[in-house]
Amino acid sequence: MEKSEWIWMNGEFVAWDDAKAHVLSHGLHYGTGVFEGIRAYDTERGTAIFRHREHLERLEKSAGLYYLELPYSADELRGATHELIRRNELRSCYIRPIAYRGYGTMGLFPLDAPVDVTIAVWEWGAYLGDEGTRNGIRAKVSSWRRISNDSLIPAAKASGQYLNSILAKIESHKAGYEEAILLDDKGYVCEGSGENIFVVRDGSIHTPPQTASILDGISRKSIIQIARDLGFEVVERNIGRAELYLADEVFVCGTAAELTPLREIDDHPVGDGAPGQITRAVQTVFEDALHGRAERYREWLDPVPVAAEDPAAMDVSRQVA
Ligand SMILES: Cc1ncc(COP(=O)(O)O)c(C=O)c1O
Repeated sequence: MEKSEWIWMNGEFVAWDDAKAHVLSHGLHYGTGVFEGIRAYDTERGTAIFRHREHLERLEKSAGLYYLELPYSADELRGATHELIRRNELRSCYIRPIAYRGYGTMGLFPLDAPVDVTIAVWEWGAYLGDEGTRNGIRAKVSSWRRISNDSLIPAAKASGQYLNSILAKIESHKAGYEEAILLDDKGYVCEGSGENIFVVRDGSIHTPPQTASILDGISRKSIIQIARDLGFEVVERNIGRAELYLADEVFVCGTAAELTPLREIDDHPVGDGAPGQITRAVQTVFEDALHGRAERYREWLDPVPVAAEDPAAMDVSRQVA
């Protein structure tokens, strides 16, 4: 992992190596935290954060679903992130805000534990590899099912929930694949361990609906819009496992992985074993949007101002116990 110089912790800028939490932090023991994964890109208009507001809104929603009161508003977190990127002098980076229950109480009743908020930024290349982004990766359908609505909250991006993704990821890695595809509790295709999934068949694009226990991905939403703008039909519907093998093209998308084609699933080649035309068409526009080359999607980018814009936004040192 590429170190940066500064991390933002509860309203203060702290040196990377000093950004520490207590070993009795509630979140460490019980997974009581919510987080986001966001990316900033080096665009011709400077560093810009992709769909920053939507990510911060999702953070607020995830927090609310787990009864975590965020001590900072989305505007404050946005301003702090801008300042953090500036201080670290990064042109592009991955951004990880996390709010978690800190040190103070133990046991399963968490509401008396303080909520700590941290933002870290660092340089992070293609999550599934540059080669994967270009030529596609090999995936395996996991024996682990994605968490369901009747035991957790799939729409929340919550720390503890990721044990499910991690089991699937380790299983696929040990079996020699680059990514896992999880089915939902009913056996329909759900998503990758950290990405949403799309299946192309007979010229139209299909993706599992909200009812399939997916995370409501921000890349997914962007790709649906781009694909429709390109004139493709996009259908949100339940997808059977065998459809993965019969598909002409399959790709996954997420903030970390961006758009990554799948070239093989469970040792079956996807289509002719190379990224297909529709995948390529959508990927090209998506990458243009991320990097600020697509005028049509410019509003999705939150430019990081070169100088501190609003000192009030920096005044975020208070803490809610
Ligand atoms: C489980 C899971 N599904 C899907 C996604 C894709 O979501 P997004 O495009 O908002 O990054 C992610 C990544 O955040 C994820 O962790």
